[in-house]
Amino acid sequence: MFVSNCWYVIAWAGDLSKESLLGRTVLGKPLIAYRNDTGDPVVMDDRCCHRHAPLSMGRLEADGVRCMYHGLKFDHSGRCIEIPGQDRIADSMRVKSWPVFEQDEFIWVWMGAAEQADPKNILRFPLHSDPGWRYRPSRFHVKANHQLITDNVLDFTHLAWTHLESFGTSGAATIMPELTPGESGIRLKYVYRDTELTEFHRNLTGWSGTVDRTHELDWTAPAFLQVRNTYTPGDVSNYTSGYPGPLVFRSSHAFTPETETTTWYFWTHANPVDAGGEEELDFTYNVVRHGFGNEDLPIIEAQQANILLDPQARMHSIQYDAAPNIARRMNARLMDSEAR
Ligand code: FES
Ligand SMILES: [Fe+2]
Repeated sequence: MFVSNCWYVIAWAGDLSKESLLGRTVLGKPLIAYRNDTGDPVVMDDRCCHRHAPLSMGRLEADGVRCMYHGLKFDHSGRCIEIPGQDRIADSMRVKSWPVFEQDEFIWVWMGAAEQADPKNILRFPLHSDPGWRYRPSRFHVKANHQLITDNVLDFTHLAWTHLESFGTSGAATIMPELTPGESGIRLKYVYRDTELTEFHRNLTGWSGTVDRTHELDWTAPAFLQVRNTYTPGDVSNYTSGYPGPLVFRSSHAFTPETETTTWYFWTHANPVDAGGEEELDFTYNVVRHGFGNEDLPIIEAQQANILLDPQARMHSIQYDAAPNIARRMNARLMDSEAR
């Protein structure tokens, strides 16, 4: 089951072109995405209405998409406009197209109730157009349900165990966040006072000693997250021996369900423009990518594989699951209300 009445990210704006078709499954439905001759994004079913060959194996032409099985051609609305050797084209010959909108460097698709498809309700990611920030866009294909990724990002105690090679320290193991549930999501704030620096942060800043570390998270149902991380040395004289001010990172995350057990995970890592330039951004991005890709994903995917072996087995919650459990309940309520 998915929350259907939601705008989901299908791709980064830069992933779509006028030259090629992107095949991507969202909410269990195979889709194609591309840009039409005027550059606007188009999303339609990845299924020719003739004999159901995938259109992602077809050819993008100026005025539409040609299925490369028997050559039928569809315009950008999905209407069949050519059947080679046949003049009459029935009105029913069409491929379903989906509401699509480009905003904040994301391509958004709506697969819910058609009358509710209002782009004004798309979640904003202001980081992506903030001139004060420089970011790297990224994505992972994760072999796990999106809720397992939300569990992960809403409980930072795992930094003490899973992320010891990247941005985690043992100080995270027992940290409880300030938790503020809202109408459509949850706000979390982690504050670690006087905590040790990781090797990554020491190398980046030149600091020694301890820092105050803050993580502010805004999770929005069903599967979005925006984060701000701040590190301030306890002794500000440290600033003279390396990094010139508090170390601040931001990130954005969108978890688009591909199937019940797989997710497209779109994310960014961002540094302030006045902090170290492209080289520093590469360095920090690569550490974060290592943390997500080589530390989080293997354990989340292994967790999903275990769950599939016995889907009914009960999970036992601990106190640190407060935020993940609220998120799970919010999503369950959204799915229930759609089922009614
Ligand atoms: S299946 Fe597409 S033209 Fe026949
Ligand atoms: Fe993690």
